[in-house]
Amino acid sequence: MSDSPKLTRRPEWVALEDHRAGALLHPRLRELFAADPARAERYVVRVGDLRIDYSKHLITDETLALLQELATATGVFGLRDAMFRGEKINVTEDRAVLHTALRAPRDAVVEVDGENVVPAVHAVLDKMADFAGRVRSGEWTGHTGKRIKNVVNIGIGGSDLGPAMAYEALRAFSDRELTVRFVSNVDGADLHEAVRDLDPAETLFIIASKTFTTIETITNATSARSWLLGGLGGDEKAVAKHFVALSTNAGKVSDFGIDTANMFGFWDWVGGRYSFDSAIGLSLMIAIGPDRFRELLDGFRIVDEHFKSAPAEANAPLLLGLLGVWYGNFHDAQSHAVLPYSHYLSKFTAYLQQLDMESNGKSVDRDGHPVGWQTGPVVWGTPGTNGQHAYYQLIHQGTKLIPADFIGFVNPVAELSDELGDQHDLLMANFFAQTQALAFGKTPDEVRAEGVAEELVPHKTFQGNHPTTTILASELTPSVLGQLIALYEHKVFVQGAVWNIDSFDQWGVELGKVLAKRVEPALTEGVDVRGLDPSTAALVAAYRTLRKN
Ligand code: F6P
Repeated sequence: MSDSPKLTRRPEWVALEDHRAGALLHPRLRELFAADPARAERYVVRVGDLRIDYSKHLITDETLALLQELATATGVFGLRDAMFRGEKINVTEDRAVLHTALRAPRDAVVEVDGENVVPAVHAVLDKMADFAGRVRSGEWTGHTGKRIKNVVNIGIGGSDLGPAMAYEALRAFSDRELTVRFVSNVDGADLHEAVRDLDPAETLFIIASKTFTTIETITNATSARSWLLGGLGGDEKAVAKHFVALSTNAGKVSDFGIDTANMFGFWDWVGGRYSFDSAIGLSLMIAIGPDRFRELLDGFRIVDEHFKSAPAEANAPLLLGLLGVWYGNFHDAQSHAVLPYSHYLSKFTAYLQQLDMESNGKSVDRDGHPVGWQTGPVVWGTPGTNGQHAYYQLIHQGTKLIPADFIGFVNPVAELSDELGDQHDLLMANFFAQTQALAFGKTPDEVRAEGVAEELVPHKTFQGNHPTTTILASELTPSVLGQLIALYEHKVFVQGAVWNIDSFDQWGVELGKVLAKRVEPALTEGVDVRGLDPSTAALVAAYRTLRKN
């Protein structure tokens, strides 16, 4: 790795800079389409049920060829193969990166340190399916014999965002008799609001934590146990029927008081933000059932296989990753919007924020040297059409270049199709109209032709030329959700490989955790604040003055 030339000195990088400064100095989507209307059909890649249209990008065939050369030169394909083989490509933690093994078929062989991990993966999936089936059927009851009607997942980051997002996404496939909630914030209000209308006798807590040391999760789990025992007369034996754990750390699970027979395990080669198709998905499996959960895994696997074997020019995660590199490194784009036109995907972008920003928010390369190039973008967005009436103005007419992914579905979920009439078409009309407006804008002459007063022409002119990807699927199903997530997982991988960073560690989140532990005694025990920096000490002093008890 250390022998390889610096990224920005590679001839393939320089060729892209020259291309940007030459042939694509002032690309105009109107002109690109006028010169080459066939790009509307040519710049489409299909994977599984996803039709991914990247024609509205500031690219030509030459751009794509140069980006693919960059991918080859930076070793993206070799690193991809090493990941699938189970090599320890998470160099700073000396770990394999094998979320792809979580959806491998039963007969696959994936080895870590000489051991095939697939049988253990399926043993956990089977145990989850058995448990989920028993909760769903009412066979698993609470301490008093009442049926479980409420499931509360307590976890944070990767132990929350995935199942919470997927539960929202797949609500239409869930058992509507069950109440499923997610608690993550160490702000006690989160747990309070989640349980205040629940009967402890009917509530199952799923404590999800890879490490089982995360302070937010352990604090909330401890409060949940007090709430449960308070409601059930204090009998400690109740814990066994109302608490299960999802973790890699059996010792800590046991220390907390959860029987390890009620623990669903996973492994250190599953990163937190890549973990929701592991045991971390138990709450989702209870909600949608084991069969639907397996369909979700099948969806992931479709994209894994595609990423592994599709040629570069038709490889969807590769293309999306390289387009991000094109904008981030050659157009100074700082952010990337993900805009799902589905209410069910309301948490999808928040999930992607962790996936992308925790993975590629890095400023040293894999050898520990400062990078001299931009890495991961700010990822943001909310479901359409809400964003249209909020921040789209800035995308349309602001001064920043914001590439965006539009995700939409041809059909509403089956449950809604009879109720909706034309409403879904209205949603999708907005979906198509937005990417059209962003790409092609409105020229001053077009504005004048509408009879607009001359002084208003600049205000009503849209420059257009805002690049978008349109991802379309027939319907949001468990499999399609799996496909979408795997698409983004591998896109993030591609970018990290090009930038030569470790996309699988997250040392940056550690400092805040350590400092919080140091500040807490100053708040709770009045410990001398003089060890703190002057600004923080003043804030702590103000807090202590205003604190009511
Ligand atoms: O602090 C960030 C993080 O380490 C994430 O990477 C992880 O998903 C989250 O905390 C939760 O960690 P755990 O599952 O160990 O509680």
